[in-house]
Amino acid sequence: MKNIRNFCIIAHIDHGKSTLADRLLDFTGSVTEREKQEQLLDNMDLERERGITIKSHAIQMDYIHEGEHFVLNLIDTPGHVDFSYEVSRSIAACEGALLVVDAAQSIQAQTISNLYLALENDLEIIPVLNKVDLPSANIEEVTDDIVDLLGCDPSDVIPASAKTGLGIQEILDAIINRIPAPSGKVDAPLRALIFDSVYNPFRGVETFFRVINGTIKKGQHIKFVNTGKTYYADEVGTLKLQQLAKKEIKTGDVGYLITGIKDAREVKVGDTITDAENPTKEAVAGFEDVKPMVFAGIYPVDTEEYEDLRASMEKLQLNDASLVFTPESSAALGFGFRCGFLGMLHLEIIQERLEREFDMTVITTVPNVSYHAYTNKNPDDIILVNNPSDLPEPSTLNRVEEPYIKATIITKSDYVGNVMSLCIEKRGEITNQTYLTTERVELTFDMPLAEIVFDFYDRLKTVSRGYASFDYSPIGMRVSKLVKVDVLLNGNKVDALSALLHVDNAYDIGKKMCEKLKELIPRQQFDIPIQAAIGAKIIARETVKALRKDVTAKCYGGDISRKRKLLEKQKKGKKRMRQVGNVEIPQEAFMAVLKLN
Ligand code: GTP
Repeated sequence: MKNIRNFCIIAHIDHGKSTLADRLLDFTGSVTEREKQEQLLDNMDLERERGITIKSHAIQMDYIHEGEHFVLNLIDTPGHVDFSYEVSRSIAACEGALLVVDAAQSIQAQTISNLYLALENDLEIIPVLNKVDLPSANIEEVTDDIVDLLGCDPSDVIPASAKTGLGIQEILDAIINRIPAPSGKVDAPLRALIFDSVYNPFRGVETFFRVINGTIKKGQHIKFVNTGKTYYADEVGTLKLQQLAKKEIKTGDVGYLITGIKDAREVKVGDTITDAENPTKEAVAGFEDVKPMVFAGIYPVDTEEYEDLRASMEKLQLNDASLVFTPESSAALGFGFRCGFLGMLHLEIIQERLEREFDMTVITTVPNVSYHAYTNKNPDDIILVNNPSDLPEPSTLNRVEEPYIKATIITKSDYVGNVMSLCIEKRGEITNQTYLTTERVELTFDMPLAEIVFDFYDRLKTVSRGYASFDYSPIGMRVSKLVKVDVLLNGNKVDALSALLHVDNAYDIGKKMCEKLKELIPRQQFDIPIQAAIGAKIIARETVKALRKDVTAKCYGGDISRKRKLLEKQKKGKKRMRQVGNVEIPQEAFMAVLKLN
């Protein structure tokens, strides 16, 4: 146990976490030439394309330090706020963290939020000043920023370049010298923390754990404390680049477990593994059921594909337990599902996976957060509103609450005014403003989650010319004035276009939605009025003017094959159209509210 070190790397996005992990693997000889690929740890295609780490992974390195053999377990953490609970569990599995700061960018919002998580878990922090090779690196200034933030000595900060390999040796030595070895009770009943799981279609769910007390053995009868289910440990092992089966994994170490579980929902990150016959008295603290934050309807474009869509969603859920869905139906779109996601990135990932891995063509409706509604009749009973149609009649409504977040934004002093205006426009209330240096300011706001779900990141980038970083954490529900805005096409209400909006935004957004729909809905043989309404009250109106010419007319009669081709082309175009009443609606229209600017 004294020769084990468990650590993670925490950093703001793009500060070089994955690149540094690769260098550590190289340096410790943990990868063969053949396995050398950029960003080894990001192995999902989508992660590579987006250049961000979505799921966390762990890897074990062997390292000889002054003639002694050490085992280093690197627990990677996801880099996006949608997955912050997973970050917190990965951090809880470690004794130390490398805090990576980009020498050109200095401390950013995620640096701080991750640091707080690490400090809450009493982790030893090793500050690493990365990218010192860059001509734009501000080595002295950024070192000072780090010293101010951590209250450490300047000599504790390790200058490094994950690109050139500078400082890697020093980082490894610091991991061994500064991070404490795990301390746990070898003879106590098994107590292990699940910090991640991955679905493997051949082997079932692979569970990644950190043993806190006791030992987990191959064949052992084990129990997951929070789900209460028992299994046999078919296989346990360590996470080298490939998995390496072992007889047992001992106190303080990190490993994987295979039990033949076929459904990801049985393995909950944060749960405790113990012995079924001799269970631990205390589960690992901090377990939470992850709750979806954003909801949207997903419908097959072709109504006949409903059963296929259900099968695809079920398969996706087997390997992504944070996806939830229930059947729903819409007058406009037919049968589909109301789905819950951890955030907008998660929504996009699921949508892309449905299309790529399952070959489904789907329509996604306007996302909303989850509200709590209370009626006058039962003012204490929460009605969960995950769908605009769940909102009780306004006349029966006692109150509605919406989720709030604490937003932390770090920007340059020049942009403070712009950032404040944006946040106030988004119904934010400033709670703190701190100058980190004369140039850099940290602002915190209480804001409704609903306001940041859509275009907030993009707007923030624009108003700060890219010099703002942002992070958030939930702070609970607050009373809100919520209304349901409906859209009528040609006089017919299209349920799938309804949105839940704060009353102060309703007129403006209703108007913009009508304008956007006017752009998106193709002209047809008749005028199509587009209206936005709150209850019976029309708040905005536009018209798509009738089309006069027949599209085939320009094929000047004769050439029948050309005419047919044109019709074929139109038919294909129709694939993503929905007929509602006598109006055709393209799929983009259902997401139009997201792209109003
Ligand atoms: P996420 O996985 O999205 O959180 O990002 P990350 O923090 O893992 O960053 P990543 O390792 O992907 O690095 C971001 C970019 O910085 C990449 O283009 C790297 O090549 C580059 N980079 C990383 N380290 C260095 C460095 O020391 N010097 C220079 N010049 N570039 C670096």
